[in-house]
Amino acid sequence: MLSVLECMNCHHQYPVDQVIYTCSTCGGLLDLKHDMDWLRKTVTRELFDSRLGTLDFPYNSGVWRYKEMIYPDVDPALIVSRPEGNTNLYPSPRLSKWVGVEKLYLKHEGENPTGSFKDRGMTGGLTQAQVLGMKKVACASTGNTSASLAAYAAWSGIQGIVLFQNKQIALGKLSQAVAYGATCIRIAADFDRNLELVREISEKLGIYVLNSVNPFRLEGQKSIMIETIQQLRWQVPDWIVVPGGNLGNSSAFGKGLREMYEIGLIDRLPSLAIIQAEGANPLYRAYQNGFTDYQPMEADTIATAIKIGNPVNYPKAVRALQWTEGVVEQVTDQQIMDAKALIDAQGIGCEPASACSLAGVKKLVENGVIKPHETVVGILTGHVLKDPDATIAYHEGLLDDIESAFPNRVFAAKPTVESLAEVINDANLTPA
Ligand code: F0G
Repeated sequence: MLSVLECMNCHHQYPVDQVIYTCSTCGGLLDLKHDMDWLRKTVTRELFDSRLGTLDFPYNSGVWRYKEMIYPDVDPALIVSRPEGNTNLYPSPRLSKWVGVEKLYLKHEGENPTGSFKDRGMTGGLTQAQVLGMKKVACASTGNTSASLAAYAAWSGIQGIVLFQNKQIALGKLSQAVAYGATCIRIAADFDRNLELVREISEKLGIYVLNSVNPFRLEGQKSIMIETIQQLRWQVPDWIVVPGGNLGNSSAFGKGLREMYEIGLIDRLPSLAIIQAEGANPLYRAYQNGFTDYQPMEADTIATAIKIGNPVNYPKAVRALQWTEGVVEQVTDQQIMDAKALIDAQGIGCEPASACSLAGVKKLVENGVIKPHETVVGILTGHVLKDPDATIAYHEGLLDDIESAFPNRVFAAKPTVESLAEVINDANLTPA
């Protein structure tokens, strides 16, 4: 076998055909550890470049294009793929100017099949469910994971089960989980409690857990880094900026970047900047005290995707920050919504949590952490249609405690040419 599960703390190893999420010796989080000597011999930039644009399964996926680095041994017949990935990396000159750097790119993970980066993890997770022969998969979710799980479970013909908190689920996400046919359960508890519940019931009911505590999910999400750097013609940016909730993405990015470096795909590491909402910032608080004191918290933010007070991947995110000499920043709901309005107005669009990336870059430039000449990649994690309520409320000025700095009002006109001409000539049509 070219991969084993290994505890990040005590390095105890487990075979990949065991249903296990954390170390049974010390409780630590598990990594899927690959044979690095084999990878060094096998993987080249040319190999991955030769698969660009292929129609052949599974290499047509922006995850499985990098199969050797994701799950080398897996039988392609078991791979559950839509296919995902192959998302755009947008150069954003107008937003570069706004944040104050010369080169800003936005990697749009909202362009995945169900509209978020979760699909890259779910293809890994559902594939492993097939390997293990599991008949039920479940997750707790702030919304996107459930939409993705529901779709991928349906696609592979097994039962998907999703646990929501009973309020503050963005409409787009809830409607996806319902539409794709998952067993949807509302619970009067927050995300953090629901995640505990999923983990508790899974063993009793023979369910496979597909939250980001599952190492196979993180292997899939690693591909965001490989694909981004391939799109940059293997040139390494100075910064990767990503929103942080349950900290699965940050953890996956750290692992992926380090492995790329270790096998010689890249010659240096970018720094990771993890951005949290001020009302859901346990990592940021721990970062402020040098990670000597970590305190879970009650979370609250308009960016409901990252309304998480006790991120399960905290230790792996700290490790990713250490590996990449990274930083953590926080942004207010006001900054998130204004940044979102500007991303939306480029014609790209994203959901609120994603806009942490842009708001975070701006703050880090203002603080002198990111220098104007540095190249920055911001990750947009979810599609603009995920949370239409937040978008409309912002532009209508209906959000509590948020002043809409970049509103785009909806006009009314009479059904006459004169009335329409009046509105069109008066409206400020200059893009933000
Ligand atoms: N952005 C979006 C749009 C998300 O849905 C999430 C997480 C994150 C950022 C944070 O990513 O957890 O890897 O740090 N959403 C999860 C969910 C928790 O249930 O959909 P993370």
